[in-house]
Amino acid sequence: MSETAKSDLVTFETREGVAVIMINNPPVNALGADVRAGLHAAVKRAQDDTAVGAIVIGAEGRSFPAGADVREFGKPRATPILSQVCDLIEASQKPVIAAIHGTALGGGFEIALACHYRIAQQGTRLGLPEITLGVLPGGGGTQRVPRITGAGPALELMMTGKPVTAERAQALGLIDQIAERNVDKAAFATARNMIAQGTAPRPTRDRAEGLGDPAAFSDAVEHWRAQAAKRPVPAAAKIVDCVERAMLLPFDNGIAFERAAFDECEPGPEATALRHAFFAERRAAKVPELAGATLREVHKIGVVGAGTMGAGIAISCLDAGFPVTLIERDQEGLDRGVARIKTNYDRSIAKGRIDTATGDARMARLTGTTDMAQLADVDLVIEAVFEDEQVKRDVFAQLDAVMRPGAILATNTSYLDINALAATISRPEDVVGYHFFSPAHIMKLLEVVVGDKTDPNVVATGFALAKKLRKVPVRAGVADGFIGNRVLAAYRLAADFMLEDGASPAQIDAAMRAYGFPVGPYQVLDMAGLDISWARRKRLAATRDPNERYVAIGDLICEQGWFGQKAGRGYYVHDQDNGPIENPEVLDIIAAERARKGITPRMFSREEIQSRCLDAMANEGARLLEEGVALRPSDIDVVKIFGYGFPRHKGGPMMAADQRGLLSVMNGLKERSAEEPRFWAPSPLFNELIKNGRRFSDMNNG
Ligand code: COA
Repeated sequence: MSETAKSDLVTFETREGVAVIMINNPPVNALGADVRAGLHAAVKRAQDDTAVGAIVIGAEGRSFPAGADVREFGKPRATPILSQVCDLIEASQKPVIAAIHGTALGGGFEIALACHYRIAQQGTRLGLPEITLGVLPGGGGTQRVPRITGAGPALELMMTGKPVTAERAQALGLIDQIAERNVDKAAFATARNMIAQGTAPRPTRDRAEGLGDPAAFSDAVEHWRAQAAKRPVPAAAKIVDCVERAMLLPFDNGIAFERAAFDECEPGPEATALRHAFFAERRAAKVPELAGATLREVHKIGVVGAGTMGAGIAISCLDAGFPVTLIERDQEGLDRGVARIKTNYDRSIAKGRIDTATGDARMARLTGTTDMAQLADVDLVIEAVFEDEQVKRDVFAQLDAVMRPGAILATNTSYLDINALAATISRPEDVVGYHFFSPAHIMKLLEVVVGDKTDPNVVATGFALAKKLRKVPVRAGVADGFIGNRVLAAYRLAADFMLEDGASPAQIDAAMRAYGFPVGPYQVLDMAGLDISWARRKRLAATRDPNERYVAIGDLICEQGWFGQKAGRGYYVHDQDNGPIENPEVLDIIAAERARKGITPRMFSREEIQSRCLDAMANEGARLLEEGVALRPSDIDVVKIFGYGFPRHKGGPMMAADQRGLLSVMNGLKERSAEEPRFWAPSPLFNELIKNGRRFSDMNNG
């Protein structure tokens, strides 16, 4: 007898004695409260139904559940909670089979682990990425996985958060079978066989193959405990503790331990910031231009300029499957660019990241030429020539002459005024900025800079293209330095003021590393080369306000020819054997500057260095919001996290300001206003938000 009962999110059907329970909560079948309730009710019903001999749990759409519903995190959780659903499934007296496809992540994988048998469709990826959200598996994952795999593989899954293939999961014992085609059918057939053969349930809680070697188990625990100590999120150490308990405690006590650990991490500042980063990334892709947009067709891409940036952009496009025409002024430069791209693929092949055929296919899609006319048939050109207004104007004039009507002209500028550039050609509506970050084929951030005349369809096409290039796009309006470099400039200036007032480069760098940046601001300058920003400062010198506090230390260093790492010297001395060490002569230059300006040096604590840099960044971010350059605070956070090394677990400068308290940030800014009023004066947005009891995060929706 067949019977179907539908709720919206979980469907229940019995066929030939098999209860087929399907989760149906698009887009990724996240396990929100209603899904959990529906699943709980369906499993209970199957158990109570005497006509049911076995149960299959599967999912409609593109994936088995990709996790708990992250939107519920940080709020009181409605029952049944995930671990209650898992316990009910595992306790079933009838065998339960998980039919898994897509990406079974987090809570989704934990549901599968609570089932008695797991069949995955080929191509499925399974993982426990909770640590990337600052939490730990809270549905029994920390107790069930090690019982099957031992501590080593279990901890690798949970500490890296990286999903594994179905084949790897099978090798670890986490999957029983891989279905080549339709996993739901395969699971149904298995369920029928189990009924016929009277197969008993196999609760994971009773499995012990992973516990068979206590010495190896505790070695792995100690190995990962040492790793966890270096991680900034408290969940890391908790995961290790939980997995250790899988060996030490009875299952139910282990589950209780896991729950307590989860509850401790979930409301913490790191988890809150990481959740923010997760949604901020996805929110950034939603821009007003997408509504009603007609995307322009992009099949073939041109890249003008085969230097480091151009080559990186070309690689990014080739990787995404586009044919690319790469243009350089002369053959020599072109050969160098093509060689750079070839070297990149050779390295990827040598490291086993791609196979030779893939590398060859990507190279075969590349056409190098010095003839601009070859761009006549491309749909989009990304110009990545030298950052100079006249040079870019010349290139744009040539592009205007050869490109087909409706093709897009994108400029990879970091600072230049796109409106001014667009005004020099006949089709300003086709001009957009794509600001890539170096190395362009690796860095995820892409600032999509929208000019006054840019056609909304061109903007929308930019966002669609970014997805294909696997970039994280953020919309920015035209401004000197757009979002990223504007905030960076404020960060550097705050640091430079401290340099002059008493701190050393090493001290400032150490403070910002302690905050969570991989490297400090002066290390970054040395790595990037000091001559680039020096050239820019020289260009801007004529228009600089003479009343502005100007820190000349960087210029004085450059005057010595110390352009950073590539010159062996910069803020640091770059000793090949010992790494960067403090440059004593730079300290002399700083001391002389202080003396020249009559500054008596003072001490800066680590906390003060951090708060000055963070306040300056948040203030500049607030100004970008006021000016409409950034759409929302979370976009600024995404730019800083993905392009500038801002620690993700702090959520970005605007989120960090929320967490530190806007009143305290504003008061800090006000206090410093006497030092340099224009720089430190708080943006009126602070007062506006505080007055209304709001925070930056309240500006994110919309
Ligand atoms: N909870 C709530 N919403 C989720 C979610 C989750 N666990 N996972 C994804 N979503 C939402 C996204 O916010 C997005 O919503 P939007 O369309 O309104 O922006 C939508 O589902 C699609 O996700 P997206 O990431 O854009 O799709 P994708 O195909 O690129 O990636 C996943 C799919 C599942 C791989 C990816 O979303 C992911 O990694 N999710 C988080 C998984 C996770 O950490 N689970 C453990 C939770 S404890």
